[in-house]
Amino acid sequence: MIQAKVAEILESDQFLQEFKVSGWVRSFRSNRFVALNDGSTINNIQCVIDFEKFNPETLKRITVGAAISVKGILKESEGKQQRVEIDAKEVTILGDANPEEVKLTILSPKRHSLEKLREQAHLRVRTNTFGAIMRVRSKLSFAVHSYFQQNNFYYVNTPIITGSDAEGAGEMFKVTNFDLKNPPKNEDGSIDYKKDFFGKETNLTVSGQLEGETYALGLGQIYTFGPTFRAENSNTSRHLAEFWMIEPEIAFCDLDGNMDLAEDFIKYVVKYVLENCKDDLEFLEQRLANEDKAKPAAERSEMGLIEKLKFVLENNFKRVSYTEAIDILKDSKPNKKKKFKYIIEEWGADLQSEHERYLVEKHFKCPVILFDYPAKIKAFYMRLNEDGKTVRAMDILFPGIGEIVGGSQREERLDVLKEKMAELGIEEKELWWYLDTRRFGTCVHSGFGLGFERLVQFVTGMGNIRDVIPFPRTPQSAEF
Ligand code: 4AD
Ligand code: MG
Repeated sequence: MIQAKVAEILESDQFLQEFKVSGWVRSFRSNRFVALNDGSTINNIQCVIDFEKFNPETLKRITVGAAISVKGILKESEGKQQRVEIDAKEVTILGDANPEEVKLTILSPKRHSLEKLREQAHLRVRTNTFGAIMRVRSKLSFAVHSYFQQNNFYYVNTPIITGSDAEGAGEMFKVTNFDLKNPPKNEDGSIDYKKDFFGKETNLTVSGQLEGETYALGLGQIYTFGPTFRAENSNTSRHLAEFWMIEPEIAFCDLDGNMDLAEDFIKYVVKYVLENCKDDLEFLEQRLANEDKAKPAAERSEMGLIEKLKFVLENNFKRVSYTEAIDILKDSKPNKKKKFKYIIEEWGADLQSEHERYLVEKHFKCPVILFDYPAKIKAFYMRLNEDGKTVRAMDILFPGIGEIVGGSQREERLDVLKEKMAELGIEEKELWWYLDTRRFGTCVHSGFGLGFERLVQFVTGMGNIRDVIPFPRTPQSAEF
């Protein structure tokens, strides 16, 4: 007898061999056909039961959602729906499930919305949709590591608790073990963080970049891949309070090299899932097509999911300077007709997601890399250009997603960096260790951050970021 996963049995040619398979019942038709799924694939194995040979008490307990194991012989199926099936000899009920409760909670995302399923930590992953998404997510993670490892990058684990605010945006979760009702105070009434656990104010990291840079300037090229936290109160379909970010950092690499790397990396991981998640992607493509049918024609996607992924592989990302982008936007119909919420009036304006999506979806109709942004709207660590007003920043914009990558060439000149920090009121004594990298053998270097969930959204075609992470954390929601 071979104990095997459904995915393995479905591929097997060992006919007449006895198999044992365990899984959860998806359906039980005509007291005869059990569709069994164990999470190893989107597909079910059909187990055929000759009900006359089984105890009726056992048969009664083969209900949707129940965990069972089946021993039986592998046969070519007579039905057209499947190539093989198991002719069941023995069925063991491992865990009962009340079918009415299960049906009410899950199983038909047609009947139960994606929103409703988010409330079900456990049963959600038993649906086809979430099973497919989470398998693709896992494969994508592996592809991320395999890309960087093959290209001789070292994986560095940067801290989750940190005293620095890399992005300077101030949207951080504080970390403390003070009794919040009665924290120690200084004479002037402010909180005395010297008495806190770490002897200073600390927060959950918004980015591992600054620590990543210190390691890149020793190991040469590194990447991080870990959880990141932002206390932005943005209830959008693209923001999470806890998300995973991939941040490569490369010594002796300028912005052009950085853009080349980002594009090559994204293409690699997309190609990897196209090759390794065929069944799940086909299912997700169909799901998206069904969802699209319910939308007004103008909002439907022009390409199917798989076609869209292939399009990314086969086309160069369009590289456009911020200045060119502003000219395009100023001249655009929605700007002239005041259809944008934020009208672009002059150079220097920060781009909102409506502008990014216009550029990608309406104007260029392909992934776009915007570069050389105004210094004023970007973080302190980006390298100042000769013009004195733009920095060597780059954002990659994707259709349906907007910004998927943010990165830059870093300011490697100690004096320029210190000046910038002074201008923004960032204290040198807080970042002395970061400035050290510029003091001892500084060099041109660059990196970027890719939001992993936005990538998973793009690859799976899911509209809401909460549906591509197992346990979403968003404003007012941290269940499970
Ligand atoms: O553009 P961001 O803020 O860049 C950084 O943090 C840099 N330190 C990265 C670097 O150069 N090493 O964030 C990078 C990416 C964004 O492009 C987006 O994909 C994702 O992280 N991201 C979020 N994803 C989900 N929820 C949020 N709240 C996100 N904020 C950023
Ligand atoms: Mg950004």
